Amino acid sequence: MSRMQQSPVRGPHVDDSVSAYYAALTKPLLKYMGGTLAAHGGLWGPDTTSHRQAYTRANCTLVQGCDLDPGKWVLDAGCGVGGTAIWLAQTYGVHVTGLTNCEPHVSVARDLAEERGVGHLVEFRHGDFMDLPFPDACFDAVFNQESFCYAPDKLAYLQGVYRVLKPGGRWQGLDIMRSGAPLSESQEAIHASLQYSCRTPSLVSWRDVLAVLDEAGFEEIRERDLDSEVAPSLENVRKLCFLSMFLIPSPSEENRVYHEFMQAALDFDQGLREGVFTYRFVAGAKPAS
Ligand SMILES: C[S@@+](CC[C@H](N)C(=O)[O-])C[C@H]1O[C@@H](n2cnc3c(N)ncnc32)[C@H](O)[C@@H]1O
Repeated sequence: MSRMQQSPVRGPHVDDSVSAYYAALTKPLLKYMGGTLAAHGGLWGPDTTSHRQAYTRANCTLVQGCDLDPGKWVLDAGCGVGGTAIWLAQTYGVHVTGLTNCEPHVSVARDLAEERGVGHLVEFRHGDFMDLPFPDACFDAVFNQESFCYAPDKLAYLQGVYRVLKPGGRWQGLDIMRSGAPLSESQEAIHASLQYSCRTPSLVSWRDVLAVLDEAGFEEIRERDLDSEVAPSLENVRKLCFLSMFLIPSPSEENRVYHEFMQAALDFDQGLREGVFTYRFVAGAKPAS
């Protein structure tokens, strides 16, 4: 029996190239992200003075408007090595399920949750968020931090989220989207490079995301432009990229993929400055009745 057939929660949609990419990024994420465990951009406000604060600000922005108390159950869909899930449990005392299609991240994230004192509140599972392995109406909130961009079919994904949310539950995401502006040939190339460098399907525009939320049945649909808040993070990444591309040698697989991860950040930075991409908070609520 193949590995794919053996897995209990692994559906037919799992994209092995995405999971292999993130598996190869495990060590760099643990080593270079300053203990934040983040595989996403930080957000800088007027009082932000450090990367750590920028990542905390991003987490706070992700959950804005959600009523998170001990006893609530939330899903972190596309949870990476567990940074956001662990932060949610530590900050709000909520129960968190982290779902990832990158199998090696499950045990890494579990160990980190134990180490950080929230192993009793957080569980990590291997699975495909296109085929959510959960019963109907079991979560108070579902979060996607820079992982919604990986959903190959946004409507199908949000319909799945709608199913697992309790009435009145919320879906909230932070992500890179297309601005919707027509692209020149060179800007199409930036988009193609970003897609290749972080293995995403073609990005959709933020207006299309709002339309799809509506089509999936969500209400209280909201969005917030975070371009100016993510820009300082990208400026820092730009400086770090040039340094690390020299300092971190090829050709090991791990280093090659880390270089690609850095390239994706550079593409995002250039595309943001040229108006190709935007960084948005998007959210909607399942009707309460
Ligand atoms: C940019 S990383 C963000 C990780 C984490 N949310 C964070 O902010 O640190 C994208 C994550 O989405 C996960 N992912 C992508 N497609 C997925 C899918 N179909 N099902 C579950 N997880 C997925 C990847 O494994 C990766 O961990």
